[in-house]
Amino acid sequence: MNKIGVLTSGGDAPGMNAAIRAIVRSGISHGLEVYGIYNGYEGLVAGNIQKLERGNVSDIIIRGGTILGSARLPEFKNDNVQELAVKNLNAHGIEALVVIGGDGSYRGAMALTERGINCIGIPGTIDNDIAMSDFTIGFDTALQTIIENVDKLRDTSSSHHRCSVVEVMGNHCGDLALFAAITCGAELVITPETGFIEEDVINRLKEIESIKKKRHAIVIISEKITDVELLAVKISKNTGFSGRSTVLGHIQRGGSPSANDRMLATRMGDFAVQLLINGHGGECIGIKQNEIMSMDIEEALRYPRVNRRDLFELHERLV
Ligand code: ADP
Ligand code: F6P
Repeated sequence: MNKIGVLTSGGDAPGMNAAIRAIVRSGISHGLEVYGIYNGYEGLVAGNIQKLERGNVSDIIIRGGTILGSARLPEFKNDNVQELAVKNLNAHGIEALVVIGGDGSYRGAMALTERGINCIGIPGTIDNDIAMSDFTIGFDTALQTIIENVDKLRDTSSSHHRCSVVEVMGNHCGDLALFAAITCGAELVITPETGFIEEDVINRLKEIESIKKKRHAIVIISEKITDVELLAVKISKNTGFSGRSTVLGHIQRGGSPSANDRMLATRMGDFAVQLLINGHGGECIGIKQNEIMSMDIEEALRYPRVNRRDLFELHERLV
């Protein structure tokens, strides 16, 4: 094998650039040519492909986002679109591919592997929703961004006897909310795992006020659960707190990657190149107990979701 490609797909995540850098430099060190595919599967299908040299990835380890650009292309599920992608790879002599993204991107990687292009998936998403890996690239940085913002909200909400309701990202995974609640000392955490009953939230806040004698409160809630602005209004109406809502939004996806994300991305990028050199395909990389490992994407997609009960209980004990 002489030529490999790399693309970033789905929502971007801080640390994707560090992974691209590792893949390019590790590939070149092993005597390979490395090609960047721009804008995910969209660029692959459009033939937006360019060779990357060592210098092309200089100074990017510190940068958030992805220099390759990312995109979502729902049509990539279609046979004819996948065939076009393979044709473009063949035209460049690219025999294998590293796909940096989430589980959706992994499905595309699996399809390409079945069509003869060995693909390795690297978990690049702030959501931490790839169960076979303890952490995904970008989660640590996004969490740090949440902490910085919630700490600021705490200053003002404590001054005004308010309850700040903070909506964080995570798609269908509550990890960002749960880890943020623990590390910010939030009073309440609501995630897809906890479920949401408005009355319970109101009662809990009343309890926090009357029994725990708290003069302010922070509620961290995962996105896609309820309208946080309305929830804040109901908190103002039904508790002694004045409610205010903040949606952190895409701020969580940006910023210079943390040391942990740079390290994780670098280790995973280098490992992906080694796997491809050894003829592996249809696998994705993870980290388990600080060991970099891989497994078949098919198995990874079936991997049972991590049960966070211990962390929810830990949070509960400390409120
Ligand atoms: P993520 O990779 O972060 O989970 P998405 O779910 O949006 O993000 O998936 C990213 C892209 O992966 C999609 O836009 C599509 O191009 C591709 N993809 C998703 N599901 C499939 C599938 N079943 N088969 C082929 N490609 C897919
Ligand atoms: O998967 C990363 C993520 O930021 C999710 O947390 C969020 O639900 C989604 O992407 C937002 O997507 P978009 O950038 O398309 O609004």
